Amino acid sequence: MSIDKKFLNLFIKVTEKAAIGASKFIGKKDKIAADKGAVDPMRRELNKINMEGTVVIGEGEMDEAPMLYIGEKLGTLNGPKFDIAVDPLEGTKFTANGQPNAFSVLVISEKGCLLSAPDTYMEKIVIGSNLPKNLLDIDYGVEKNIKLLADAKSKKISEINVCVLKRPRHDYIVNELTKMNVKINYITDGDIVGALSVIGDNAKNDIYYSTGGAPEGVIVAAALSCYGGQMQGRLVLNDEEKVRAKKLGIKDFKKKYNIEDMIKGDVIFCATGVTTGDLAKGVKDLGNEFEVNTFALHKSKKIIKTVTNIYNK
Ligand code: FBP
Repeated sequence: MSIDKKFLNLFIKVTEKAAIGASKFIGKKDKIAADKGAVDPMRRELNKINMEGTVVIGEGEMDEAPMLYIGEKLGTLNGPKFDIAVDPLEGTKFTANGQPNAFSVLVISEKGCLLSAPDTYMEKIVIGSNLPKNLLDIDYGVEKNIKLLADAKSKKISEINVCVLKRPRHDYIVNELTKMNVKINYITDGDIVGALSVIGDNAKNDIYYSTGGAPEGVIVAAALSCYGGQMQGRLVLNDEEKVRAKKLGIKDFKKKYNIEDMIKGDVIFCATGVTTGDLAKGVKDLGNEFEVNTFALHKSKKIIKTVTNIYNK
């Protein structure tokens, strides 16, 4: 079974409308208002689609309106059953500060095919395609992983580019990397873009090595499942988070997830730029209209494209 191709344009419209909603808050220094600016149109557009959608990756784990919460039902409830992962505004801080790389993102799969991850942290390592399967492992540690990667890519260790989310919790990673004399490219936020920066012939980075949001981890896995690359993720759970994870059906708290553990079957990925960034150009105010750009993937149809659309204000 696969997702009918007519749904791709419908879901693109959802992230387009959410991005336009958030764009009104670019540079306004209000992260929460910007997020809400994306959430409301995203919910409204999803509810117009003939489907029975369930949020499995959302912004909260119960009925935490106005957020799109895990378990929330969306759509007209009389079409195909889908699981939905939403990040209505990835880069709330980027939007509030008028910085690049804010976007609205959505992932759709057939029912039961997306990992339902709690809104906690996830350790992540991500590398590109055309590398030996299961090359790296979180438990190998930084030094061994970088050496294995350099060998597999026939590069010197000093030529390896590592993308790291700048957080004190990553000091141990940075210390190891510094000792090895690799190139570290920091991001201040936005680990979906960071993780996807290892993809493609002219990839900026050889590896993404950090702990970011678990929801963002599943969204990255969805994109990678469409265009290659490898990922390993492991949830970071305190006692209270273990209780929440258990409620979502997670039994093995130490499990190392690869892409196939997080994403099964067909998948659609849409990311519409709010501010211009690596995945898509931002919303452009043309006066009476908005121009929007979306990076869209549909696995079973082998679609990888960027779509530009215009909306009247
Ligand atoms: P939001 O835009 O939803 O605030 O997320 C931004 C982000 O940088 C994610 O990309 C990343 O996974 C997460 O926050 C990291 O969390 P923290 O800021 O707590 O380290």
